[in-house]
Amino acid sequence: MSVAKVITIRRATMKDVDQMLEIINQYAQQGLMLPRTKLSICENLQSFVVAFDGQDVIGVAGLHILWEDLAEIRSLAIAESAKGLGVGKRLVLHLVDQCRELGINRVLALTYQKDFFEKCGFYVVPKETLPQKVWKDCINCSKLPMCDEIAMIRESA
Ligand SMILES: CC(C)(COP(=O)(O)OP(=O)(O)OC[C@H]1O[C@@H](n2cnc3c(N)ncnc32)[C@H](O)[C@@H]1OP(=O)(O)O)[C@@H](O)C(=O)NCCC(=O)NCCS
Repeated sequence: MSVAKVITIRRATMKDVDQMLEIINQYAQQGLMLPRTKLSICENLQSFVVAFDGQDVIGVAGLHILWEDLAEIRSLAIAESAKGLGVGKRLVLHLVDQCRELGINRVLALTYQKDFFEKCGFYVVPKETLPQKVWKDCINCSKLPMCDEIAMIRESA
């Protein structure tokens, strides 16, 4: 008889880093998201949360503060085996709650997953309406000249 695992959302720790990298870079290889190095995860560890099934990390997401009223969800990825269980939505809503607690009004996602983010309460906005600072980290992205990601926002309150 199999026992259903309890999935918790918690802050990431150094012990989680290798599993986080494995999940993120599996999708990065498919061009679905930006790759991460071990150093970039370690340096930004405080900004990450993970979904943990008691044994393994099965999902990861980061929150990057861009400005006083805007933070971006980054590196959201769910292990292939855990997709469709509501874990992605839980991670996103957890980070939206974090934004509210921090007093940040709006949450941004740059994504190909429009339908998923709509289910999380986000709506599409023209990229031109976003502050220039959003594009600072795009310098390292191979898609820079022809970025086709969709910009989506939701209010945190
Ligand atoms: C996109 C992703 C994060 C979704 O995570 P998930 O845990 O599988 O999604 P959930 O189970 O939380 O789904 C929440 C809702 O969105 C819907 N949904 C999930 N993925 C969807 C998709 N690709 N297209 C349409 N709807 C989707 C679900 O049906 C569910 O709807 P409901 O609330 O009506 O039941 C996950 O598929 C993933 O890691 N993809 C690869 C990496 C990636 O693209 N990351 C996003 C970078 S911005």
